[in-house]
Amino acid sequence: MQKINGGIAILAIESSCDETSASICVDGRILSNLIATQKIHEQYGGVVPELASRAHMQNIVPVVDGAIQKAGYALHAIDAIAFTRSPGLIGSLLVGSQFAKSLALALNKPLIAVQHMQAHVLSNLIDDPKPSFPFLCLTVSGGHTQIVLCKSPLQMEVIGETIDDAAGEAFDKSAKLLGLPYPGGPLIDKYAKDGDPERFSFPEPQIPGLNFSFSGVKTAILYFLQNAGKSYVFKETFLATEAERKSFVDNNLADICASIQARIISILLNKLKRAAVTTGVKNICLAGGVSANSGLRKAFKEVGEKQRWATFIPAFEYCTDNAAMIAITGYYKYLAKDFADLSVTANARAEW
Ligand code: KG4
Ligand code: ZN
Repeated sequence: MQKINGGIAILAIESSCDETSASICVDGRILSNLIATQKIHEQYGGVVPELASRAHMQNIVPVVDGAIQKAGYALHAIDAIAFTRSPGLIGSLLVGSQFAKSLALALNKPLIAVQHMQAHVLSNLIDDPKPSFPFLCLTVSGGHTQIVLCKSPLQMEVIGETIDDAAGEAFDKSAKLLGLPYPGGPLIDKYAKDGDPERFSFPEPQIPGLNFSFSGVKTAILYFLQNAGKSYVFKETFLATEAERKSFVDNNLADICASIQARIISILLNKLKRAAVTTGVKNICLAGGVSANSGLRKAFKEVGEKQRWATFIPAFEYCTDNAAMIAITGYYKYLAKDFADLSVTANARAEW
């Protein structure tokens, strides 16, 4: 297959957690973005790292092959291979990074190592309209919650982050307490649509500066459920029996979900407002799996209108983990000639 207008073609691979994904982008335009989601973890209530690595090994060849086919590209027409180097589960990262390195070696193509959190931020540069620089990005995922000041595609600074749980974890752990399966974030979103967000009021933590905390909310929800909605305070003798707790949850699920979601959203958006005031930046983006949350998307747009921000949210398929965001980041790194050599290693921790 010939190259389209001789553009720069990047093949990208994402394997940091429980999604195996591959994408082809040409000159910053996404031609394919295949994602294999691993269902096996649902029964364990969370991602089991060893099972994730094994599923990546099974998925990676068909997913990469599918992305190339869908884009109508031949492997030899690719200009560089990008992959997620960090942060993530080390076994999962190893599968993607070893595959990318082997392909780069076999095809004699340059290799580009991508930081997953940077890629979430740049998912805002995939579709039009794109934010102009500088912009702020609230990145909310299962493992991270950050406010990033982005001065150019490759110049970013974390100006606020969580000191304990991530926003996605707060959603998932709350869902688990409600007896919902993993990942519970999308289910809380679903039930919250029919609920009253003001019915129950969970405490908002007072954390200085631009950092976040979600562990207090999680604990308040735990006690609240243990007490069948009568109190947020730990009691040595619980007010409720197991049956009372269950019937309280069953009868009030929508209102509980709406109230939990409203508190998580207010924690996020109050800090984002503060970050906009502190930096004077009015181009504001969302990114990461939790930006798929319909309540957050709506509240973000409403706050943006009141504050006169220009707001940007990636399309749904670019919010949760995907290789298109690795491809777009790979494209900007290619333009900056920021290549990795074959000795590059996966890293469970972020390098910023
Ligand atoms: O970015 P992501 O796909 O993976 C990580 O890098 O962590 O984010 C996954 C997180 C999970 O915690 C999941 O529950 C949450 O995003 N999530 C949502 C929604 N969709 C995904 N949380 C709330 N509402 C949603 N609609
Ligand atoms: Zn992610």
